[in-house]
Amino acid sequence: MAEETAKKRMLSGIKPSGDLTLGSYLGAIKNWSARAEEYDCFYFMADLHAITVRQNPADLRRRTLEQLAQYIACGLDPEKNTLFIQSHVHQHAELGWVLDCYSMFGELSRMTQFKDKSSKNADNINGGLFTYPSLMAADILLYQPDLVPVGEDQKQHVELCHTIARRFNGIYGDVFKLPEPFVPKVGARIMSLTNPTAKMSKSENEDTGRITLMDAPEVIMRQFKRAITDSDTENCVHYDREKKPGVSNLMTIYSACTGKSFAEIEAEFAGQGYGAFKPKVGEAVVETLRPIREEATRLMKDKAYLENVYRQGAEKAGYVAEKTLRKVYKKVGFVAR
Ligand code: TRP
Repeated sequence: MAEETAKKRMLSGIKPSGDLTLGSYLGAIKNWSARAEEYDCFYFMADLHAITVRQNPADLRRRTLEQLAQYIACGLDPEKNTLFIQSHVHQHAELGWVLDCYSMFGELSRMTQFKDKSSKNADNINGGLFTYPSLMAADILLYQPDLVPVGEDQKQHVELCHTIARRFNGIYGDVFKLPEPFVPKVGARIMSLTNPTAKMSKSENEDTGRITLMDAPEVIMRQFKRAITDSDTENCVHYDREKKPGVSNLMTIYSACTGKSFAEIEAEFAGQGYGAFKPKVGEAVVETLRPIREEATRLMKDKAYLENVYRQGAEKAGYVAEKTLRKVYKKVGFVAR
């Protein structure tokens, strides 16, 4: 059984709808692994969310396990963190339904991601896509976390979760702890290498300027050599997100991989152009991802180990989630089993 700990709690999830990218690692997972001492951490593969967009079943199953292997390879130690698959903890879907009934049509209609995804999947604007934020609110509120680290694009959903929780508490008393979104500053936004004003997305296909955690070194080097730099005449390595989004993105990546500051990077490449800088960034990324790729590949061959991790994770998560769900069912007036 899970122990009650005095530690603060942290929770986040990633949809297994695409391969994890360099952006997922530098912007999220890398920061998470440093938190295990301080926080009681829960991370899950959001497979329930993934099917709001049509998935190939075999790919979804493989990617969910790969994502677990990659979490571990990125430093999320299953002994110190609770790692689980969302669909294994049935309380998510159950609380999701209840919260659907406390989420307003108008609120859900205003979500940027809903509008965005509806325009991209015009032939499949399903109910799940619309109520995605109430399921996400359930993911969060089941665990009463102190901190919910998310990317900039998910902030609106955490804010809606806050609204739903406040509404519910307003009717039934203090059931839910109000969550705070936490958007980490360092490396929070790694952009596409070919379109540096758009986030490096895991759902898009290759050739859209993304690097995945499993990319071979040659592929990484090729992508960085082809990375878009800026068309200013300066041709010098200098940080300016507004005027030089391409170079600034590469500097962010280089800084995150090497620990060097922007000033140090500017000094290192003073008098050299973009042509010299780009392969250096590629090399730094290759070395950062090499141990992760190797360890994830090894873990993918050890299915028994992965199974053990996700089973234990679901058991621990289910114990916490059930307590909250039981309280909610009682509050809304369901007869106890
Ligand atoms: N919606 C998040 C994403 O698209 C994934 C997610 C689902 C999540 N449930 C969550 C993140 C709860 C944080 C907390 O990436």
